[in-house]
Amino acid sequence: MSKELALVAPSASNAPRYAHVVGWGMYVPEKIVTNDDISKLVETSDEWIQTRTGIKQRRVASEHESTSTFAIEAARRALAKANVSPADVDLIIVGTSSPEHLFPSTACIVQDALGAKNAGAYDLLAACTSFIYGLSQAANSIKTGDITTALVIGSEALTKLMDWSDRGTCILFGDGAGAFVLQARSEPGGFMNSFLRSDGSGGPSLILPAGGSAMPATTKTVVENQHYVKMNGREVFRFATRVMASACQEAVRRSGLEMDDIDIFVPHQANKRIIDAASKKLKLAPEKVVVTLENYGNTSAASIPIAICEAINKGQIKQNQTLMLVAFGAGLTWGAGVLKWDVPPPAPPTRRQEAQRNLYYRWARVKSVLRRVVRSLEARIFGNSK
Ligand code: ACO
Repeated sequence: MSKELALVAPSASNAPRYAHVVGWGMYVPEKIVTNDDISKLVETSDEWIQTRTGIKQRRVASEHESTSTFAIEAARRALAKANVSPADVDLIIVGTSSPEHLFPSTACIVQDALGAKNAGAYDLLAACTSFIYGLSQAANSIKTGDITTALVIGSEALTKLMDWSDRGTCILFGDGAGAFVLQARSEPGGFMNSFLRSDGSGGPSLILPAGGSAMPATTKTVVENQHYVKMNGREVFRFATRVMASACQEAVRRSGLEMDDIDIFVPHQANKRIIDAASKKLKLAPEKVVVTLENYGNTSAASIPIAICEAINKGQIKQNQTLMLVAFGAGLTWGAGVLKWDVPPPAPPTRRQEAQRNLYYRWARVKSVLRRVVRSLEARIFGNSK
């Protein structure tokens, strides 16, 4: 397929609508932390980490970076790729386990920074499965005719929630974000079907205990290191290898396909041994499997979109291929989805388009500041009267 697929506007008609990925983008922080760097902090080695996980290095947020700064940059890149204006976005979903705050949502911060004035926005927490959950929700909203354009983002600054003296967790995670623009089209394809599951009885296996309503922050929670990620790695490993293959098989079946129809397998990038076990169970040749964890570690909700962006850049993912995505994470949650990568690669933006886009973001920032000023003036002038 090389012709442009026509955009379908929201409508009350029953004409079938499909949710295609029309733009994608990723962003990772500049700071690289190697296994050797970590071995200066805890009793570990590059050899141990590489053998047990496949990870060589990860990107780590600086003091001034956070989940929203990554999400905003990835979203801007995805919108530019799609040549879609932020004003045309109807829905923003940010999948994250390291939100900017408990509230307001990171998605609302992204909405404001983008000037996405016509969008609803919310965070979604299904840990590392968040991106697949988000794709599923956005695609369903498009297919039912509720919306036309959605921005689905996976973004994490999980290294800020790591206990850098716990070798069971700090070796695994990295920071970054990936974003997709999904849009309604009348031609079949795009995000086809998903299979989402959870098992809350496994919650304690991977948890950030304090900071919520169950264990609000106190001096004791800080002293006892309860504001950091705790994990039973072996339990999570066993769970992941148990659920991944069957979730994939179910998502493929629901999409009306056979496993042989899958061209590219994009698993959550947590551990190379987990990826190998799932690929083996599914009898997938190594060239079909996307692996990027050696450079980025486990970026949780961002891992699948980052892996897809990397695979596109390397030429591993090409137009008209069928992708199978699978992830697992805290909750416990897991899920798989099938995605036809069928929209022609968009033309790169012209310099004029780039300049207009930058101007739009600057203006959105000015308007946001003005709105805050007006709000504070109103409060001063009118006090609390309505
Ligand atoms: N360096 C050196 N030795 C280590 C390290 C380390 N970083 N970590 C553990 N060890 C030691 C252990 O103490 C143990 O020693 P012992 O035999 O003397 O007791 C030995 O190595 C083996 O420990 P295991 O925990 O059995 O190691 P395993 O092979 O299971 O690897 C790992 C640990 C990498 C954490 C693995 O279990 C794993 O990847 N689990 C899945 C974790 C995961 O994917 N989490 C993310 C989920 S997604 C989300 O929601 C964020």
